[in-house]
Amino acid sequence: MTTDGSKLRIDVITLFPPMILEACSYGVIGRAMRSGLLTIAAHQLRDYTGGSHHPIDDHPYGGGPGMVMRPEPIHDAVEEVSTRYRPARKILLTPQGRPFSQAVARALARSGSFLLFCGRYEGVDERVRPLFDEELSIGDFVLSGGESAAVVLIDAVGRLVPGVLGCSQSCESESFADGQLEYPQFTRPESFRGQRVPAVLLSGNHAEIARWRKEQARERTRTRRPDLLRPETTDPDGDGG
Ligand code: ADE
Repeated sequence: MTTDGSKLRIDVITLFPPMILEACSYGVIGRAMRSGLLTIAAHQLRDYTGGSHHPIDDHPYGGGPGMVMRPEPIHDAVEEVSTRYRPARKILLTPQGRPFSQAVARALARSGSFLLFCGRYEGVDERVRPLFDEELSIGDFVLSGGESAAVVLIDAVGRLVPGVLGCSQSCESESFADGQLEYPQFTRPESFRGQRVPAVLLSGNHAEIARWRKEQARERTRTRRPDLLRPETTDPDGDGG
């Protein structure tokens, strides 16, 4: 429980607070915010330019294309938000970060609170890196800003907070929950364009159904994502260890 009574508080520092708040207002995450299970606060980085007209970004020393985010506002924003809300972890979103995964999501869902900093332009001045406990990337591609990465991360983490999803089991059986992809799912009708629902699922035999699903999950993982079955690539605790 955090000081504001929610189960998880997420502070986001960004140049575009509405991008975060709007995207998080839908579906299960939006509902969890409105019911007080999740607190998501977006802080405007421009509020930390010290009242001056200094730009938020500047040209890189040494030349080259693009702009770099200046260190002072980032420092002041991270310091002030951290002093006020005491996040358990301070995270910089960057394509250079440790890969975000279901294991990392589980760890963050249990953390109680964390802060996300969303970079823009060509990145942040190198000297702000020590302000953060860790750096996370949502994949090997470059986004035009950390905001969409923050929304992805908040969705993946927020839905793991107890009470956010109606049924706790739906978290446990889905893809990656046990390091594998999920088994195939079917609903009505029994026959769709000549494709029938596998007979075992209509059998009512729960032990058989469980066995079939386990086999399907293993086979699906083997053919689509064999990398998930190699133990050295998994990080069950999400702590990078
Ligand atoms: N910012 C830009 N690209 C990113 C990525 N892939 N992950 C996290 N933050 C980012």
